[in-house]
Amino acid sequence: MDEAALQRLRSAFDPERFRQQGHDLVDRLADYLGAALTRQAGPVLPWVDPEGQLGNTPSISEDAGPEVPEIVGDLLHRAFHLHDPRTLGHQDGLPVPAASLAGLLISTLNNDPSVYETGPAVVPIEVRLLRWMCDELGFPGDAGGVLTGGGSLGNLTALLAARQAKVGRDSWTEGNRPGEALCVLVSEQAHYCVARAVKIMGWGDDGFVKVPVTDDFRMDVAALPGALARAREAGRRPIAVVASACTTATGTFDPLPEIADFCSEHDLWMHVDGAHGASTVLSPQYRSRVRGIERADSVVWDCHKMMMTPAVLTGVLFRNARHSYDTFRQEATYLFEERPDEEWYNPGNRTVECTRSGMAVLLYTALRVHGIGLFRDYVTRCFDVARSLSDLIDASPDFELAVEPDANIVCFRYRADPGIDSDRLQSRLRQKLVSGGSFYLTEAELDGNQFLRCTAQNPFTGEQDLCDLLDHLRAEASALEERSGTTNASGLAQEG
Ligand SMILES: Cc1ncc(COP(=O)(O)O)c(C=O)c1O
Repeated sequence: MDEAALQRLRSAFDPERFRQQGHDLVDRLADYLGAALTRQAGPVLPWVDPEGQLGNTPSISEDAGPEVPEIVGDLLHRAFHLHDPRTLGHQDGLPVPAASLAGLLISTLNNDPSVYETGPAVVPIEVRLLRWMCDELGFPGDAGGVLTGGGSLGNLTALLAARQAKVGRDSWTEGNRPGEALCVLVSEQAHYCVARAVKIMGWGDDGFVKVPVTDDFRMDVAALPGALARAREAGRRPIAVVASACTTATGTFDPLPEIADFCSEHDLWMHVDGAHGASTVLSPQYRSRVRGIERADSVVWDCHKMMMTPAVLTGVLFRNARHSYDTFRQEATYLFEERPDEEWYNPGNRTVECTRSGMAVLLYTALRVHGIGLFRDYVTRCFDVARSLSDLIDASPDFELAVEPDANIVCFRYRADPGIDSDRLQSRLRQKLVSGGSFYLTEAELDGNQFLRCTAQNPFTGEQDLCDLLDHLRAEASALEERSGTTNASGLAQEG
């Protein structure tokens, strides 16, 4: 290699360059944070169609290009402003600055906690964090788990453990047996990743037996015996019930104590997909909604949803830690020995991933800096904001709720004039607000009807923001209904 090439490598790692650009980055991000939190960063989503956005994105070249500040500036200019109090869309968490700073730390150190030797400071942090999460869930002293990259992977990890625990043989080593036909019972409202996990395990569409929900979108526990019987009659062997705490679409908590009773009676594994709602255990005001979670065999808990942590950080927690050692037995002599239960300090034994980021540091830092109380307040506040929105909707004759919210997710719709295609109207309303940049919200289809959907993730969303949201929707709805009335009496179906 010639000297010029070596010099280029040295320059890329130049600590002074890093210092200067790092200071600039933090300055820009601090300004950005201040602006976004006070709605000064521009439209909530500076809408550009995907093709246009791709066109605005410079391609990669052989030669050196702009410095980091220029790239940061461009990205901030085009970003979706999650910190804007009028972002009320998906369940993406609002990272607390202490966790964001920890992000820079972990991506600089890049210590991999899959094995102790490459993550000597990070592995114990993971262990402390997991212990704390287990304690908050109300799990016993011999509980434990792992951290993984997202709720989808977390649910797969838990279901692999369920299979290993319930089939009565070493399913990890032997795989599925022809004719064994395992399945799980899962609510109609469960997140799609549960079905995906089942398919990854090779059980196909029949691997998840859908349990109907009640009118308020809760798993109908009265339907569980029937679902179990149907599965058995069809020659399948149910091994687990997957409860949602809470569901993605409406934020509804399944009745965990009754599901726990059913699981103990029928020797089934109880898994709680608490990707969104396990954080509810932190709120003294709302904790009762997850009563019974302490009886689960496994719980998935996404910290990048309701724990102010940047994506992704998921806990897969087992009431009995032994189960987290039983899956993924693997011989990789260059990494660890095949004595996983004696090697708590090598978490790579127990995760789908080999290399992982030091994700635990993100949340651990924020917890150490601010204390658990901040997180209790955060969850409570987000649920309170959702409650305020649902109260406003209840008090507005031109809107209706899909269901009273349990959590910080609210589904509702504008009551369309007779003759107007209501489903289409809701979608058009959302498009109008999102493309106009005034608010960000999502949609959900419930029982075949379209609803608007808001997730309150920002503790700074105030009453005025919520009133303005309804006013914006009203104004757009009248404009659309008026246009539709003058062009086509049958409604919005042809409206452009
Ligand atoms: C209930 C539930 N489970 C699982 C997931 C998937 O989590 P992730 O996006 O972290 O993979 C989600 C995501 O929204 C969810 O709401």
